[in-house]
Amino acid sequence: MSIDTHSRPDAARPETRDKVRVFMTGDCEGLAELRQALGRHPEVDFVGSSTSISEAAGALRGGHLGVVLHGTRFSTFPQAEIAAIREHTRASVILLASGEASALLDEALEAEVADVLLLPQMTENLVFAIRKASRSGGRAPGQPGRRGRIVTVFSPKGGTGKTVISTNAAAAVAKYEGKKALLLDLDLQFGDAAIMLGIEPEKTIYDLVVAPGELDTEKLAGYVTRHGSNLDVLPAPLRPEDAELVTETKLGKLLEVARESYDVIVVDTSPFFHGPMLATLDRTDELLLVCSLDVPTLKNVRLALQTLELLSFPPDRIRLVLNRANSKVGMKPGEVEGALEVKVRFSVPSDRSVPIAVNRGNPAVLADARADFSRSLREMAKAIVPAEVAAGKGSRRWFGKG
Ligand SMILES: Nc1ncnc2c1ncn2[C@@H]1O[C@H](COP(=O)(O)OP(=O)(O)O)[C@@H](O)[C@H]1O
Ligand SMILES: [Mg+2]
Repeated sequence: MSIDTHSRPDAARPETRDKVRVFMTGDCEGLAELRQALGRHPEVDFVGSSTSISEAAGALRGGHLGVVLHGTRFSTFPQAEIAAIREHTRASVILLASGEASALLDEALEAEVADVLLLPQMTENLVFAIRKASRSGGRAPGQPGRRGRIVTVFSPKGGTGKTVISTNAAAAVAKYEGKKALLLDLDLQFGDAAIMLGIEPEKTIYDLVVAPGELDTEKLAGYVTRHGSNLDVLPAPLRPEDAELVTETKLGKLLEVARESYDVIVVDTSPFFHGPMLATLDRTDELLLVCSLDVPTLKNVRLALQTLELLSFPPDRIRLVLNRANSKVGMKPGEVEGALEVKVRFSVPSDRSVPIAVNRGNPAVLADARADFSRSLREMAKAIVPAEVAAGKGSRRWFGKG
């Protein structure tokens, strides 16, 4: 079997276009050749492949995929295989089959797949289908969507400053950048974002996920608590045992809905890669990875970077935050960068205004706006507001038919 890997002379190939992140699952005749051709195609970021869908779970969930290509040897529609992929990702799926599998086509049109291609195919035809499928983004074609930016604040260690940074950054986005912002406390068992903000919420994320009926933007609005900075807050459950009801699926849905009504969603987290955290990573636009100048934290941040790589989390979405960067503790910021092989994007100074503000339940960016800490957090807030929102163009984006 021969696969044409040459581009058509008329094929548009602007190098500036975003690459589509593609993962390949399953197997069928001709798939190996396609894999090679896609691996070197300039418009495709080929994340990897696995014949087994269950082994691909990490990449499917955390890989920020535009498209999943699934090869099948069945001549009828592989319902179970597609359902297994759907458990892990909302990315568009293109089904690939070889030879006489035309019986597939009728059924597939009804099902949740973006396209079906029978191999062999010219690479450019496949890339065209990939671009088209990625534009529909796994949503129903034509469905409108505002796309709030999801900023996740994570550190594999407790006490590094995740909650201080997420509450202050979120309050600064709402107050000083004037954007619609939501703070979601995903430290589900011991979240203290509400306390640091000095609010006593009546409802938490637990009440929202156990409430009957479909979750939509109106319902979400009924469960958030408004902070004085104009920030909306969805706090962690009040009792640790309620955390387990906040499942990965519920959280995925919640984030999708939140994206429709907020410009920025800041997620505070616990130091674990649990199910809801994976659902969050899958949708995260910017990951603020918090490190400090101590050896155990450094060791764990290094491990976290390795885990993120295993999950195929895009490295260009990781921003290293060095908290208490000015502490004189026998380790320099340059040593952190050297050990992690990642540049520090935000340096946050240690500042006594922080513990004072924490104990008063009033974020330092608001309570002591001129403190060094507050200046640095306001810079961070400016940087995480989406470019089109910052430019005052609004963040509404429409997904047209491919
Ligand atoms: N930049 C800072 N300057 C001074 N104190 C800080 C700073 N960042 C964090 N802290 C202190 O460290 C404590 C732990 O921070 P926290 O945000 O709760 O950590 P995490 O959420 O990662 O467990 C806070 O109560 C705060 O007093
Ligand atoms: Mg915390």
